Amino acid sequence: MTGPAYLSGYLAPVADEMDAYDLPVTGALPPELTGRYFRNGPNPLPGQDPGHWFLGPGMIHGIRLRGGRAEWYRNRWVRTAELEGASYVRPDLSIDRTAVPANTHVVPHGDRILALVESGLPYEVTAELDTVGPCDFGGRLTTAMTAHPKQDPQTGELHFFGYGALPPYLTYHVLDAAGELVRSREIAVTGPTMMHDFAITAGHVVWLDLPVVFDPALIGRERIPYRWDDAHGARLGVMPRAELATVRWFDVDPCFVFHVGNAYEDAAGAVVLDAVRYDVAGFGSVWSRLGGGANLDRSRAQLYRWRLDPATGTRREELLDDRGVEFPTHDNDRTGRPNRHLYAVGEHTIVKYDTGTGSATVYRFDAEQRPGEAVFVPTDGARAEDEGWLLSIVTGPAGSVLLVLDAADLAPVATVGLPRRVPAGFHGSWIADRI
Ligand SMILES: [Fe+2]
Repeated sequence: MTGPAYLSGYLAPVADEMDAYDLPVTGALPPELTGRYFRNGPNPLPGQDPGHWFLGPGMIHGIRLRGGRAEWYRNRWVRTAELEGASYVRPDLSIDRTAVPANTHVVPHGDRILALVESGLPYEVTAELDTVGPCDFGGRLTTAMTAHPKQDPQTGELHFFGYGALPPYLTYHVLDAAGELVRSREIAVTGPTMMHDFAITAGHVVWLDLPVVFDPALIGRERIPYRWDDAHGARLGVMPRAELATVRWFDVDPCFVFHVGNAYEDAAGAVVLDAVRYDVAGFGSVWSRLGGGANLDRSRAQLYRWRLDPATGTRREELLDDRGVEFPTHDNDRTGRPNRHLYAVGEHTIVKYDTGTGSATVYRFDAEQRPGEAVFVPTDGARAEDEGWLLSIVTGPAGSVLLVLDAADLAPVATVGLPRRVPAGFHGSWIADRI
C-alpha cells in the first residue's frame, strides 16, 4: 500500500514549480485562442499528507496561448498564509481566513485574478501566477467566498456567497463589474450546511440548502466535519435579486449537489436549474472515498433538472441523463440565461448535452486517460451557442496534454504537449487577452 489515493496515480502531486516555453502542438491552435488557461487543484508539498483530497494546498497550472502558438507552461503554488505555516484556527480560537489552501478554482474579475476555496478569502494572483496576497475587497468581505461565483453576462457583476460553520451561516455578496464589493446580505437558513455552489438567473438567486451539515461532534475525528443528515431535509431557495430578503423555499427529494450547470427563467417565469446530483447512496460513496480513497467518483452523479415555479409554489424534478458525470460547464455568456448546451466530464469521456433534444455527444478517451473539466471558450462576435472550443487538461501515465476540441461536434482541433504530468485537479478558467 502506497498511501492515500489522492497522493498517487493521476492525483499524485508534483514536487516543484517549473517553466517551459514553445510547447509542441499537434493539429492547429486557432489564432483566436489568445490568452491563458489557468487550472487550480490540490498539490500537497513533498512529504505532506493533508488527510483529505480537498485540503491540499492549491497549485495553479497555466498555459499561455497566442496567435496559434503555445508560448509557455508554468505551475505555481498559491502562497497562502497556510502554505507558510499559519493555522486556520488561531490559538485564541479566532479564524484566520487567509490560512486557506486556495485550491479549488481560479477566476478573473475586474482587474484581478482570484484563486478560490470556499473556506476563506480569495487570493489574488498575477497573470504570471505570482501570488499577490489575500483579497478582502478593502476590508468589506467579512465571510469566506465560494469557489463558484457567477458573473452576470449583462451587468458584469460577480455574484457569490460565503458560508460557514458559525453564524452568519450564509451571506450573499455582489461585486460590481469593476471588482468593488457593493452588496452583502445575510440569508436566513436553518443551520450550517456544506454549500459548494449556487446559481443565478436574470432575476433570481438560487440557493442549495441540502442535507450535508456541519457536525461539531466530528471535529478532531474527521478532517472535514460535515455529514449527511436526513433530518435536515433538502430544499432549493429562489430569491428575487431585487428583494434580497425574500427567499421562496421548495422542498425537493433529498440529494447533494457539488456543481451547478446553469439556471434561467423559462417562458412561464419558472426557474429552471440544471445541476449534477448525488442521491444519498451516491454521496456516501463519494464522500467516504475523498478522505483517502479516490477521486470524485463521477459514476455516482447525474445531470438533473429542477423546475421551480414561484407563482404557484410547485416544483418538478427529473433526471436528464443517466450517465455519470461531474464538472458541468456552459457558455458563460449565457450564465443565468436560457441555454441549450452543457458540457461535463465522465471518468474517461467529455460529454456535450443538448438539453433541447435530450441527446448527447461523447468524446471518448482510453481507460488510462483522465480528462479534467472542459472549459468552453467562445469564438468572437455573434455566434451560435456552441460555436467555440472546449479546453481540458488530460492526464495519463505518460504525462498530460491540453486538448482543444471543437465544441460543435467535439472534433479534436489541437493538442498541446505539456512538459510534465499535471495532477487531476478541480476548476479553471480561460482568461482572454484584452485587446
Ligand atoms: Fe467545485
